Amino acid sequence: MRMYDLIMKKRNCGILSKEEINFIVKGYVEGIIPDYQVSAFLMAVYFKGMNKEETSNLTGAFINSGDIIDLSPIKGIKVDKHSTGGVGDKISLIVIPLVASLGIPIAKMSGRGLGHTGGTIDKLESIKGFKTQMDINEFINNVNTYKMAIVGQTANLTPADKKIYALRDVTATVDSIPLIASSIMSKKIASGSDAIVLDVKVGSGAFMKNLDEAKELAQTMVDIGKTLKRKVVAVITNMDQPLGHEVGNANEVKEAIEVLKNNGAEDERVVALTIASYMAVLGGAYKDFDEAFVNLERKIESGEAIDKLKEFIRIQGGDEEIVDNPDKLPQAKYHIEIKAQSSGYVNEINAEKIGNAAMLLGAGRKTKEDLIDYGAGISLVKKIGDSIKTGDVIAILHTDKKENQVAKILVDDAYKISKNQPTKLKYVYDVIM
Ligand code: URA
Repeated sequence: MRMYDLIMKKRNCGILSKEEINFIVKGYVEGIIPDYQVSAFLMAVYFKGMNKEETSNLTGAFINSGDIIDLSPIKGIKVDKHSTGGVGDKISLIVIPLVASLGIPIAKMSGRGLGHTGGTIDKLESIKGFKTQMDINEFINNVNTYKMAIVGQTANLTPADKKIYALRDVTATVDSIPLIASSIMSKKIASGSDAIVLDVKVGSGAFMKNLDEAKELAQTMVDIGKTLKRKVVAVITNMDQPLGHEVGNANEVKEAIEVLKNNGAEDERVVALTIASYMAVLGGAYKDFDEAFVNLERKIESGEAIDKLKEFIRIQGGDEEIVDNPDKLPQAKYHIEIKAQSSGYVNEINAEKIGNAAMLLGAGRKTKEDLIDYGAGISLVKKIGDSIKTGDVIAILHTDKKENQVAKILVDDAYKISKNQPTKLKYVYDVIM
């Protein structure tokens, strides 16, 4: 087999066999096929796509390139969730204790985030003492005993995806549906869960800018799940503005606590309950979505969900007192108010600009080596549909940095004010299963 012929086959709209896909992935990981040929291949996939079978075979090749975590010592159906990435997305912080409170085992492995804010692991590490490294036996014991545990990804999971993702990043081939789908699904399947709920974001702050693309990505991932014998549900949710009011790390933990105390922002609450409900159904706790939703709302109202969060923090070594006293979380030195320059209604909050501003304030990493400032972030005081008057505070920037002019401009620019009240946003667009 020659890489040259496989590039040409894909370029000419050919369908690659499992053996051919394995040849490319294995050859690249082993350093036999050079970057320039894989780059050309990725560009051919970008333009010509892959069919269902090729996409599943690519996923399989990624999975088999590294370790596959064996979670079989955990009793019950292990359910995981994954978000395609958004701004202010703290859904995992909410659903881990919420779904675990039903007795469904959640064994979560999470990577560190590169981008606007930290990932789930970074957000949790803003809690003093919260430990995200433990050996596999402790991890499995905690899930069996408490039904939940989270660990930073240390195993050698899907090294082929890691190497190919780095190449996609510099060859303008990230936003290809078969490449995104196989990348996400390979990591989820290699980390050992039986069932997965995918939160596919669509809008200004997401990879997928329109609903048709988001549906195609969702369907592709659900199809991979069917072929590789995992139960998968994809929920398509709105990312036309950041989720909730808080974007950052410690402030996102604070907002997740609010949701679990039954006080959270409506969009955050609806999306979290929707994702948790599908997790509950896949985990076998309820027969359908409506039944799960009502019962999960009860878990929040009764205080069981917030107690489970305290337990989660305690078993991971963290200071559970932050639940009753969130002001113990890290705080920034400066709090800078951004004020409305006209009156009317908030019509748009560009999530990407807010995300970039949060990163400039210190909440995210541009490179793997950057340190996160846990107290940095943005509070979006006003959200789409809110009425405002000139001079009202619309957002507050939290930072230790004295130089924050660019972030101020970005946040100011992210808000668009209109005379008429916009129609209410949908939080959840569609569900694909
Ligand atoms: N997230 C991933 O893990 N992979 C992609 O390709 C895109 C988003």
